[in-house]
Amino acid sequence: MSEKHDIKPDQSIELLKELHILTRDGKLNQDSRRKLKQVNHLCQFIEPLLNEVRQNHGVTLVDHGAGKSYLGFILYDLFFKNSNDSSHIFGIETRDELVEKSKDLARRLEFPGMSFLKLSVADSIESDLLPATVDVVTALHACDTATDDAIRFALLKKARFIVLVPCCQAEVAAHLRKNKGQVLAKQAFTEIWRHPLHTREFGSMVTNVLRCLQLEAHGYQVNVTELVGWEHSMKNELIIARYMDLPRRRPADRLKEVLQTLGLEDMNQRFFTSL
Ligand SMILES: C[S@@+](CC[C@H](N)C(=O)[O-])C[C@H]1O[C@@H](n2cnc3c(N)ncnc32)[C@H](O)[C@@H]1O
Repeated sequence: MSEKHDIKPDQSIELLKELHILTRDGKLNQDSRRKLKQVNHLCQFIEPLLNEVRQNHGVTLVDHGAGKSYLGFILYDLFFKNSNDSSHIFGIETRDELVEKSKDLARRLEFPGMSFLKLSVADSIESDLLPATVDVVTALHACDTATDDAIRFALLKKARFIVLVPCCQAEVAAHLRKNKGQVLAKQAFTEIWRHPLHTREFGSMVTNVLRCLQLEAHGYQVNVTELVGWEHSMKNELIIARYMDLPRRRPADRLKEVLQTLGLEDMNQRFFTSL
């Protein structure tokens, strides 16, 4: 397939070259074609959310674990650069060199509505470099518990939309492992995570189930879907949460019950149901 099929008509060739998605002579290789497809596909989910926010005001979007900020730059290029409102994208990243590179690229591309902050997701919650409320929070393969911190950030900042593509999270599996002995004796279904490999896989799945219940327990409507184009990655679960002020009691009760059933009561703080 030619490059034309993968690149959107209004997408900046200059940006794609800067992100090394296109080679200097404008070609896509197999890896970068996949990356571009993934990010463009994700943008299709995010675009309607941005349009909804824009009906009232400019969009503040915070991207956690931004890495090289592919997502932020491509969103800005497609949906922010020609808008005359106060929209802004913040990239949060702990690695200094990535933050500096992104700052430099935004300067060169003249994307003034982008900021990059060298902060952990957890520290960004208290940082006065970020606004008190935000509209959209994204976290794309933010490592381990950084996704959970991004959820906390989004809840405290009253985000209207939360878009997560979780990375593997080891914390729940570690707790399952620790408490395995006590729980195994009680119920036959604990066989689901008796073998170490299953503990890890089940832990990863349970993590996302708990995240969804947590978001629902804060009044969000949650959709879980698959990111196509991510076929070579295990980490292809897309969670989109929309704040609807929905009733919270049932998901909160369910969350507690799941934690209890799986012997994960000591994770109450991680999957808190009230702020
Ligand atoms: C797998 S990369 C994903 C980058 C980008 N979101 C993407 O999908 O291309 C994860 C990034 O999150 C950053 N990171 C990991 N833990 C973090 C934390 N607690 N706070 C902020 N950034 C974090 C890492 O330095 C890394 O750049």
